[in-house]
Amino acid sequence: MNPIPYGRQNITQEDINAVVETLQSDFLTQGPKVAEFEEKFAAYIGAKYAVAVANGTAALHLCALALGVNENSRVITTPITFAASANCVRYCGGQVEFADIDPETGLLDIEKVRQKLQSQPKGYYSGIIPVDFAGMPVNLEEFRELADEFGLWIIEDACHAPGGYFTDSKGQKQNCGNGNYAELAIFSFHPVKHIATGEGGMITTNDPELYQKLLKLRTHGITRDPAKMHENHGGWYMEMQELGYNYRISDILTALGISQLSRADEGLQKRQEIANRYDEAFRNLTNLKILNPAAYVINKDHNWLHAYHLYVIQIEKRKELYDFLRTKNIFAQVHYIPLHRMTYYKELGFKKDDFPLAEAYYEMCLSLPMYPTLSAEEQEYVIENVLQFLNQAR
Ligand SMILES: Cc1ncc(COP(=O)(O)O)c(C=O)c1O
Repeated sequence: MNPIPYGRQNITQEDINAVVETLQSDFLTQGPKVAEFEEKFAAYIGAKYAVAVANGTAALHLCALALGVNENSRVITTPITFAASANCVRYCGGQVEFADIDPETGLLDIEKVRQKLQSQPKGYYSGIIPVDFAGMPVNLEEFRELADEFGLWIIEDACHAPGGYFTDSKGQKQNCGNGNYAELAIFSFHPVKHIATGEGGMITTNDPELYQKLLKLRTHGITRDPAKMHENHGGWYMEMQELGYNYRISDILTALGISQLSRADEGLQKRQEIANRYDEAFRNLTNLKILNPAAYVINKDHNWLHAYHLYVIQIEKRKELYDFLRTKNIFAQVHYIPLHRMTYYKELGFKKDDFPLAEAYYEMCLSLPMYPTLSAEEQEYVIENVLQFLNQAR
C-alpha cells in the first residue's frame, strides 16, 4: 500500500488549467482573481464581506489588529488548537488566557469561559477566540450571548470548518464563519484544509467598518481612495495612514482557490461518507472513542454539519497505535499538543496541569486519514489495521 497521510490536497486538471491561465494573464499579484475569490467565498459561507490574505495566521493577526488588541488586552482561547489561534494575540502584545475544553466535543468549554469571566471585574477580558476544532462547529449563538454580557468581541477560528454549520435556537442553519455571531472569522487554505491554495487565508465579516480596516491593514495601512485621504497630490497619490503589512495573496493562488471552491461541496460530501464509514467500523468498540461521531452531531438536539477536517479517535495506547500504523505506511497524526505545553507558553507561566481535560484529551487523541481522495480500499486498510491493533492490544 502507498503511504496514506492524515490529510492531503486534491489537485485536478481544471485547477492546473486555472493557474496556467492566470500565469498567462496580466496579473500575478493582487488582481481580479483575488476579488473573484473573495466574492465567491463570501457567497459560499454566507457572509457579507471576505478579505483574502497570505495565510490563516496573517488572517488572525489582521483580525487582532482590527479589533485593537494591544498590551492591555486579555483574550481567551482553547489550548487544543494550532498555535496561530493564540499567537495572534501575542503579535499585538496582548495576553493569552486559555480555558479548558469540553471533553465530549474537544471544543472550548463555554462554562469554563464563563467561570473565568465571572472571576474578574467586567472589562478585564477583551475577547474570545473559539475554534471549530476538527470541523465541529462551535455554538456561536451561546458564545455571543456570553460575549455580550461581558462586552467582548469574538474571532471565530473556522480554519477547520468551511461548509460546516450549527443550528441556532430558532432552527436556522448558521454556517461557520458567516459573521452572524462573531465580529470576524478566519479560514486557512493550507494543503490539508478543505480548499487548498498552498498558502492562503480568508477573513469573513458582516461589519463594513472592520472590512474597510482589514483592506487597509492587508496592504501596509495604505489607502488609495481619495475620499479617505487627508491630502491629495495627484493621480499617483496614496496615503499610508497606519502601520499595516503586506499580507496580500496572489492572483496565481486565488485562481487555484476559485477552482477548488467550485468542488467544495463535493469534497465535504466525501468527508461525510468517510466519517460515516469510520463511525460504522468503530461505533461498538469499548476501547476506542470517536470524538463527535455523526450520531452526536446530528440527533434530536443537534442538526449540525461537522466539516470533518479531521477524524479524531481516542484510545489509551495512542502512541503504540500511532507507531503501529506507521509500520503499515499509515501516517495518522496528533491534533494538538496543548498550547500551554509549548515551550513558549510555558515560559509565559502556564503549567502542564493547568488544563487537565485538554491534557487528558491529548494523551489519547489520534487523527485518522481523512481527505476526499482517500479511496474505499485505502480506508478499509486503515480500519483493518486499527482493528488488528486493538485485537492485539487486548
Ligand atoms: C485552527 C487553525 N488556526 C489557524 C491556522 C493557521 O493557518 P495557516 O497555516 O494558513 O497560517 C491553522 C492552520 O494550520 C489552523 O489549523
